[in-house]
Amino acid sequence: MASQSKLSAIVLAAGKGTRMKSDLPKVLHPLCGRPLVEYPVAAAFEAGAAQVVVVTSGQPEIAQALRDRYGADRVAVVVQDPPRGTGDAVRFGLAAVLHPRTLILYGDTPLIRAQDLSGLLGAIDEPGTDLSILTALLENPFGYGRVLRDSSGSVREVREERDLRSDGERAVREVNAGMYAADTEKLREAVAQLSPNNAQGEYYLTDVVALVAQVSQVAAVQGEADALVGVNDRADLARAEDLLYARHRDRLRKAGVTIHGDARIDTGVEIAPDAEIGPGVCLRGKTRVGARSRVDVGSVLIDAEIGQGVDVKPYCVISQSSIGNGAQLGPFLHVRPESVIEADVHLGNFVETKKTRMRRGAKANHLSYLGDADVGERSNIGAGTITCNYDGFVKRQTIIGEGVFIGSDSHLVAPVTIGKNAYVATATTVTQDVPEDAMAIGRVRQENKPGYAAKLREKLAAAKKK
Ligand code: UD1
Ligand code: CA
Repeated sequence: MASQSKLSAIVLAAGKGTRMKSDLPKVLHPLCGRPLVEYPVAAAFEAGAAQVVVVTSGQPEIAQALRDRYGADRVAVVVQDPPRGTGDAVRFGLAAVLHPRTLILYGDTPLIRAQDLSGLLGAIDEPGTDLSILTALLENPFGYGRVLRDSSGSVREVREERDLRSDGERAVREVNAGMYAADTEKLREAVAQLSPNNAQGEYYLTDVVALVAQVSQVAAVQGEADALVGVNDRADLARAEDLLYARHRDRLRKAGVTIHGDARIDTGVEIAPDAEIGPGVCLRGKTRVGARSRVDVGSVLIDAEIGQGVDVKPYCVISQSSIGNGAQLGPFLHVRPESVIEADVHLGNFVETKKTRMRRGAKANHLSYLGDADVGERSNIGAGTITCNYDGFVKRQTIIGEGVFIGSDSHLVAPVTIGKNAYVATATTVTQDVPEDAMAIGRVRQENKPGYAAKLREKLAAAKKK
């Protein structure tokens, strides 16, 4: 669209965020799996910005996080040092702005969406309006800048909490959300006139409102209260998190996913219709869940690719791995990175896999460690089987062909290969390759001593009496 190519956005992300009491810059604190600052940047692009300028205090991690996600050509990072207020930050940002319209967002207001910004952008296309600000009506406006209007109802200024002069002003419930759209040239003129004469001794961007209101029209566009939740401390972060997780659940329910209770589904996770997500489940990173799959109570999935019709029973942890259609997993299973679990595989309670391929229809139903292994189709791994894949220095491979039966409590000392349709007897320690169709057995022979149990009991009882 022609008008969209003319928009730049400035996202303010400088300052330490001292109220977070953290070594990590405030805007890098994760919210539903992504750093705070990514949300306004994403909203700006979605609202049509051709360029996003992020103002930071020079922390390389912030620039890195943004370049990784959006590419260096789309995001410009400018440094404001020291941070002398939001107005000063916009002055730095404007130096990099290329387009005739500018959208300004704060890096600590992550709940903003493109749809909340359309009214704001529409308003500055009206003749005679050079600035629009997003506002909201709050039950408790404490802490936010208040929107003060003149007797005719036109916006006169935004005044910060600390600078309010009367109870009348304090009672104003319309607050500044911290999002603005402006004619770039008019914004440059107004920002050049800012001075730090306020309670904080900072250059307030909000003073631009009064400056523009003196010469032209400022439009106040009322938005949803949720959109402006600003994250200043950990309590705000928790509130933003609750709201965003609830939004994700609502969106997915509308798309045909059953979600029970409080499942926490991070930004970017994809779930197909008719999937079912249990209470207490956490889905993180690039996790995808296919149609008709169920992820039951308390399971945690990180970068997991779940096929269709998969049953993940309660309390499984699956990370950086893929699960094929129709697989049945858990309860209490740990699939560790680089595992490939193919279709119709069964992995039961207390099974751990790491860098292991379980081929179609293979089973390990109870208590096993399978690391650096390749388990053939339809093979059955008995309870208590362990791949001894590590000698303290290097990891080694265990290759198991198709249709193999591994008896319970066997140890497979890698590197070792077990041929197709072979049989490993219970409690065998396998140290040599087993040929196809062979049976391997290696255990201490049993000896029975008739009547010895009774004799032993008498002996022990006599010893106790002494
Ligand atoms: C600001 C607004 C207030 C509004 C509220 C909404 C001002 C003066 N006040 O207050 O009217 O109701 O947001 O959430 O703008 N930043 C910089 N450089 C600086 C200072 C801040 O880049 O020198 C960035 C911060 O990283 C932050 C954002 O600007 O992301 C807002 O700064 P903050 O100090 O949190 O402002 P508030 O007190 O919340
Ligand atoms: Ca803030």
